[in-house]
Amino acid sequence: MKIYTIFISILIILSCISLVSSYDKKLNYEILLPPPLSVDMSYRNAIFSRCSVRSFKVTPQMEPVGDQELSTILWAAYGYRDNGNQTVYGIDGLHSTVIYVFREEAVYTYNPLNHSLVLFQEGDLRSIVNWQHNAPIQLGIVWDKNKNKNENYSSVEIGEIGQNIYFMSTALGLGTVTAGLTGFKDIDLPENEIGRIVMPLGYPKKSPIFEYNPNLITLFPRIPDSDENLTNVIENRIEKHSFEGDIYRQELCQLLWASYGFSYLIDVTNSATNEVERHRTLPSSHCTYPLVIYAVTSFGIFRYFPHILHLNPYSDNPYYSSNYDLPVISFLLPIRLGDYRDEIAKASSQRDIASAPLILISVLPLSSLYSVSWPWYYEAGASAYNVMLESTLLNLHTGIFKPTDLSLIKSVLRLIDDSLPLIIVPVGR
Ligand SMILES: Cc1cc2nc3c(=O)[nH]c(=O)nc-3n(C[C@H](O)[C@H](O)[C@H](O)COP(=O)(O)O)c2cc1C
Repeated sequence: MKIYTIFISILIILSCISLVSSYDKKLNYEILLPPPLSVDMSYRNAIFSRCSVRSFKVTPQMEPVGDQELSTILWAAYGYRDNGNQTVYGIDGLHSTVIYVFREEAVYTYNPLNHSLVLFQEGDLRSIVNWQHNAPIQLGIVWDKNKNKNENYSSVEIGEIGQNIYFMSTALGLGTVTAGLTGFKDIDLPENEIGRIVMPLGYPKKSPIFEYNPNLITLFPRIPDSDENLTNVIENRIEKHSFEGDIYRQELCQLLWASYGFSYLIDVTNSATNEVERHRTLPSSHCTYPLVIYAVTSFGIFRYFPHILHLNPYSDNPYYSSNYDLPVISFLLPIRLGDYRDEIAKASSQRDIASAPLILISVLPLSSLYSVSWPWYYEAGASAYNVMLESTLLNLHTGIFKPTDLSLIKSVLRLIDDSLPLIIVPVGR
């Protein structure tokens, strides 16, 4: 009898242990992320060394990205700041993005309200959502149609998010790339959600190597160094809807440079094969960089040339630019003199921007060439976000507005018929 009782007790204990361990393997519905890090890298260094990374360390397994790094990147991408606003600006106050986090064990969504991951689906879907780049984490960036009906302006927000993912990854020694070709069609998203881009996260197989070489032929003043740390600049960005004050030439040039310029660093990672690149401050689909940035001030309207068009010997498309176009000649071309800020304010139904000392407008030339427009709105959003961060360094305020009267803007900017003004970014004090 005694032996029988001992045997039964052992059986009960063993089954309890196996129950506990199988419970352990069950995934948590919600994972609270650790607080984000304040990174050491300056914003200036992060924007100078932004570049796309496409292969990641596999040693012998993929080197994982820790929760601390993931937390910091997700906060920068879409988290809340101390002032109660999210890190990125929502046009008309709308935020319509969902970030999916694809990890080895499962797919989660990021909840910015309590900075957590919420279980979406168990299983490893990383190579399905991104068949181009094998990485330990894939961030799937999705447009929620219920929160903003406009597919183009929702892509502006995704462009802003993409910049912070690039900058923060750079600051943490990680790599990423905006991938527009995705496997979202094979992921069972809710009906109201459309997958837009995927950004892999991992330690680069080959860490990018940069050389400081600001040897640009330019009529612009030098972009000054700044020690201001990236986390602070993201945290301190101030958005405004009414503007005043003046803009100085140095500030104007710095803001234009941030919007679409080239780095002072050259990327010599692949110099052994003669591939020396000078990256821009933002990515562009197929390295096209088609946007044209106009600056409207009280003096007149100017077109920013980040570099003189340099035909790429590898492409038949004259509008295709490349990171290999060296050297760079940047300047501002006056389009017309006079104060046209009132007209731009009317054309965006925002009376208050008429007093902004600077209004930047991104324009997509030859819009008929591009049947899909959201990637160019993504790029305009990335460019506008850079202007917002650079403005923060300069103690200036910014916003992003929609053009509401396209023909008025086109006539004021003297654009040809086929051009499409995308967004309007006033800057002021
Ligand atoms: C909307 C968009 C879609 C992109 N799609 C892809 C993609 O599917 N695959 C890829 O490897 N790179 C993609 N890129 C990255 C560009 O190829 C890259 O930004 C460009 O070549 C410039 O290089 P850099 O970012 O290193 O400066 C995309 C970029 C953007 C903005």
